[in-house]
Amino acid sequence: MVLKIGVLASHGGSNMQAIIDQIEAGSLAAEIVLVLSNNSASGALERARKHGLPWQHLSGRHHPEPADLDAAIRQALQDAGAEVIVLAGYMKKIGPETLAAFEGRILNIHPALLPKHGGKGMYGIHPHEAVLEAGDKESGATVHVVNAHYDEGPVLKQRRVPVEPGDTPQSLQERVLREEHVIYADVLADVVAGKITLPVRED
Ligand code: GRF
Repeated sequence: MVLKIGVLASHGGSNMQAIIDQIEAGSLAAEIVLVLSNNSASGALERARKHGLPWQHLSGRHHPEPADLDAAIRQALQDAGAEVIVLAGYMKKIGPETLAAFEGRILNIHPALLPKHGGKGMYGIHPHEAVLEAGDKESGATVHVVNAHYDEGPVLKQRRVPVEPGDTPQSLQERVLREEHVIYADVLADVVAGKITLPVRED
């Protein structure tokens, strides 16, 4: 089986790149059937073009009504034949129509050990600042299923890293990002191998 992946990304797309690398190396039996971004200047779209992947820029500029944008995103992903949706640094909330069409099949990566340090506003450097402020001894990366609430769906996998003395939010971010680049492809490989069955139903 070759897993068909749709990616949504807003910025650099290094997590998407890690998945592309695994696919191109032959160690992940998957295909990226569409890269969608709300940001026309995103590194993610640049990477998509570089690797010859289908891509689309869809944002409020094309669809000022959120419901129209949601419908366009759902349609594009379905037209591409995506079986699983990977959010890789996607800064927008997934709309209800897309969520319903792909229920239990939309995955997100978060740079902290959920349920800690998640939720609205916990993006970019903020979760790492929160980890240091809380005095946590460890942090890590979490891949989880997306539901209607930010960072709250069922956790599929986590990788932990220690918080080192003298860490800054940036040094912690770098350490966590290295784990992010492993964990997403791991989860997708588990889906391919049938170790994780999609859709994931909430308890
Ligand atoms: C990552 O830290 C990810 O956990 C978060 O956004 C960041 C995206 O980085 N959701 P990149 O665009 O994949 O490089």
